[in-house]
Amino acid sequence: MKALLLAGGTGSRLFPVTLGVSKQLLPVYDKPMVYYPLSVLLLAGIREVLVISTPEDIEQYERLLGDGSQWGITLLYKVQERPNGLAAAFILGEAFVGSDPVCLILGDNIFYGLDFSTQLEAVVERTRLGSKATIFGFTVKDPQRYGVIEYDTEGEVISIEEKPEYPKSQQAVVGLYFYPNEVVAIAKGIQPSARGELEITAVNQAFLERQQLQVENLGRGFAWLDTGTHESLLEASQFIETVEKRQGLKIGCLEEVAYQKGFITKEQLVQQAKKLEGTPYGDYLLARYA
Ligand code: TTP
Repeated sequence: MKALLLAGGTGSRLFPVTLGVSKQLLPVYDKPMVYYPLSVLLLAGIREVLVISTPEDIEQYERLLGDGSQWGITLLYKVQERPNGLAAAFILGEAFVGSDPVCLILGDNIFYGLDFSTQLEAVVERTRLGSKATIFGFTVKDPQRYGVIEYDTEGEVISIEEKPEYPKSQQAVVGLYFYPNEVVAIAKGIQPSARGELEITAVNQAFLERQQLQVENLGRGFAWLDTGTHESLLEASQFIETVEKRQGLKIGCLEEVAYQKGFITKEQLVQQAKKLEGTPYGDYLLARYA
C-alpha cells in the first residue's frame, strides 16, 4: 500500500496567515500540522509516502521531513502546479503508485481515537486483498462544509454529495481514503466540477455506483478535527494540548509511532530525540526511551 499526503491547496480561509506559509506547516500545539496525518499513515503500517504540495512550498516540506529514513519510511515529493482538486493526487502520483493499492490523506486533518491503528491495519489488508474502496463517516454539526453521506432506511449508502446546501445527513466524509489501484483510472476519467476541481466525491461516487464502496463509521469517542479555519485551528491546538497534558503522552509523535511499529530501533529513536534535546518534544522522547 502506497500513500499520497496532500499538503498543497490555497489555505484561503486562513489568510493572511497562509499568504506566506503553507497551511500544513503551521503548528498544531507542539508540532507541525503535517505530523498528524503522517503519523496516521505510520499507524496504518504504510511506509511509502508521496508528499504533494505547491511549487512554492514543496522545498519546505522536504526540509522538514527529509527522505523519511529517520522514521524508517520512504518519503518522495511531487509538485501540484495548481490546486485543481483532491482527486488530482492520483494522476500526479500515478507513477509512484504503480500497480499498488493507495491511501489518500489530507494534510490538514487530525484523527485521534482508541484502537485506530488496529482499524487502519484491517482496512489496509482488506483493500490490498479486495476490490473495495473504504471511506470513513463522522457525525458533525456543520455537514454542508464537507462531502456528505446519504443513507436509506436500511442504513445503506445511497449517495455522497460535495458541500450540499441541504445536507441529507450529518455524516461527513473525513479526509482519509483507501482505494484499490483502479482509482487511478477512475480519477483520470472524472471531469472537473463547477468550481474547477477534480473532486474526491466524484471518485467515491464512482466506487459507490460499482458497489465497491465501504463506509466505516468513526463513532462517538473518536475525534476528527480539521484545521482549515482560524477557529478550528485554535480548537485543534487546544484539543491536543488538553489530551497531551492530561495523559503525559504525545499525539502524532512520529519517532514514537515509528518505534512502536518496529520501523526504527530504540537507538535510532534516541538518536533523533537527542537532536531535539531541551525541547518538550525531544525531552518527552528521551524521558520515555533513553
Ligand atoms: P481544502 O481545505 O479544501 O482547501 P485549501 O487547503 O486550499 O483551503 P481553503 O479552502 O481555505 O482555500 O483542502 C483540503 C486539503 O487538501 C488541504 O490539506 C489542502 C489540500 N489540497 C491540495 O493539496 N491540493 C488541492 O488541489 C486542494 C484543493 C487541496
